[in-house]
Amino acid sequence: MTTFDHAILACPITKENLRMVDLNQTQLAFFEKYKPHFQGFINDSNTVVYPVVQGVIVLLPNYAMLANGEEKPMPFDKDRVFRYYNQIEYEQLDDSIVYSDAKKFVDFRPVNKTYLENALKRVSKYIAPTGKYCLDIASGPIGLKEYLELSAGYEWRICIDISINALIQAKKNLGEEKGIFICGDITNIPLQAEVCAAVISQHTLYHVPKNEQETAVRELYRVAKEGACIAIVYNWFYHSLLMNIALLPLQVYRVIRHLLGKFYVKLWPSKPRLYFYPHSYFWFKNLGYGDKLNIYVWRTLNVQFMRLYIHDWLGGQKMLQFFQHLEDRFPKTMGFLGDYPLIVIKK
Ligand SMILES: C[S@@+](CC[C@H](N)C(=O)[O-])C[C@H]1O[C@@H](n2cnc3c(N)ncnc32)[C@H](O)[C@@H]1O
Repeated sequence: MTTFDHAILACPITKENLRMVDLNQTQLAFFEKYKPHFQGFINDSNTVVYPVVQGVIVLLPNYAMLANGEEKPMPFDKDRVFRYYNQIEYEQLDDSIVYSDAKKFVDFRPVNKTYLENALKRVSKYIAPTGKYCLDIASGPIGLKEYLELSAGYEWRICIDISINALIQAKKNLGEEKGIFICGDITNIPLQAEVCAAVISQHTLYHVPKNEQETAVRELYRVAKEGACIAIVYNWFYHSLLMNIALLPLQVYRVIRHLLGKFYVKLWPSKPRLYFYPHSYFWFKNLGYGDKLNIYVWRTLNVQFMRLYIHDWLGGQKMLQFFQHLEDRFPKTMGFLGDYPLIVIKK
């Protein structure tokens, strides 16, 4: 953790550089359950201190210790996601540790294996194969092998996530030697500008409050080096024409449940529920990146489609090969029609 160049870090509150310091135990009482290493980072003006917890550098404003005693609470919708991912359990899947809700979003039956693996490898088509820093923003525990391998050619994978627990798991899955583990927010990335040779963000932007998603994209762009690619895996949900046609009654039910969920969390805020808001294809196209922004397919089919239509006895393998062929041949069209697009911005 200490061997990388700390000059890449930025204080998310004052934007100053950070340097490493020893912290005394009383300052860290709040973090006792994480068994702190008595190390931390302080900004240039000595006004903000951030702890290091089990090798994770905690650069999230709500965990910061400010000299003036001020606190930086999170807004409601971000706090929902924060609490959800800090309370979630983990489980073993083959050789890896993944979120215990992974099966809700991914159909891991053997019939889907190749199709799912191909989607997980797709980002590598667009980012440079080698470089110094590959930023994986909102990395989660990095459970799946193909996802882990995306940064194989890089000196460092910078894993940033809002959840300290996820980063502790990521450290186990990735190993300490090639990883920099930072607890931080995608809408206020605690890195200096132009640091990263590649930026990946999978399945996170749609969990960011709708009015902050543009800020998050601008942050991903800010920390990318000139010429680097930013790869964002997104979910169109009810904007996906193909899924709407193929799953119509189910999609209507899902949209109603999604809208009711928004009231439910306000009425019973104690149970953390995941926030979700999908912007449309045209929203991304109108962000102002012009030809630098292209939308390809990551995966056409969602978990609901797979559970309903993909079965060995229904020729599931053949059906998936057909979709795979369409995705390889028409990546932009399928990125528009399918459920999961891959938004690529070249800086
Ligand atoms: C669905 S998981 C995706 C994890 C991983 N990227 C993957 O593809 O398996 C979403 C992750 O985003 C993180 N997250 C949510 N909001 C965030 C934010 N504002 N800043 C940083 N991470 C965030 C969560 O803690 C969680 O680990």
